[in-house]
Amino acid sequence: MSISKDSELKGMTRVSEAVAHTLKEMQKYAKPGVTTKELDDLGSDILASFGARSAPNLTYNFPGATCISVNEAFCHGVPSSVTVLKHGDLVNIDVSAELDGYWSDNGASFVIGEDVNKHQPLVDASRQILVSAIDQIHGGVKIAELGGWIEQKAKQFGFRVIRNLTGHGVGRSLHEQPSYIANYRDTANRQRFTKNSVVAIETFIATTSTMAVTAKDGWTLVGNRGGFMAQHEHTIVVTDGKPIILTAANGIG
Ligand code: CO
Ligand code: CO
Repeated sequence: MSISKDSELKGMTRVSEAVAHTLKEMQKYAKPGVTTKELDDLGSDILASFGARSAPNLTYNFPGATCISVNEAFCHGVPSSVTVLKHGDLVNIDVSAELDGYWSDNGASFVIGEDVNKHQPLVDASRQILVSAIDQIHGGVKIAELGGWIEQKAKQFGFRVIRNLTGHGVGRSLHEQPSYIANYRDTANRQRFTKNSVVAIETFIATTSTMAVTAKDGWTLVGNRGGFMAQHEHTIVVTDGKPIILTAANGIG
């Protein structure tokens, strides 16, 4: 969406605070011994306390309030009472919701407890890339340029990017124009970021895979060549200067 009045900015701010706070609280609660279903139940309760409704549930009839993906699951993982978190797990939580007709989206990857599997460098690279990518966005910047920068940065860290997962416009529904904000230089995409538009910027930084494919459960996305992936996501408003980070309360930075 493009913000044209104060009430729209207020609406986007409220739903963004709801998803950001939910993500932060879920991340705090994620400890060894906790199941991803327990984690999702907490997220569901917090969203409800804001009067917000789960976006994946509303949009896709997703079987959970939030997406929780563990280790080889890259994203869209279904919360489960049999998935018990343990030290060294790489977890991604993605929280998106609707409140009063406004939609916002955010996500983060992190390591549970002790980093026995050495996932922290991947997580740190993803987080740093998101923060510095957002810093470069203003009205007029080519979406393909940003993608090229993200891929180059990932390579410098020794990682790859997933080519078929992208950021996207957001605001009046979960996915809007611009539909594809890729993590590589997509030369077919000639679109530019426009002032006042609301977009979800997300990294998809991977160790070995370059594509995400659907697993047998029909929901979870895994890598075409295995390995691990980290994602960090903010919903922002594009301006003439630095973007307004609507989901800043999630603590990503
Ligand atoms: Co998104
Ligand atoms: Co998301």
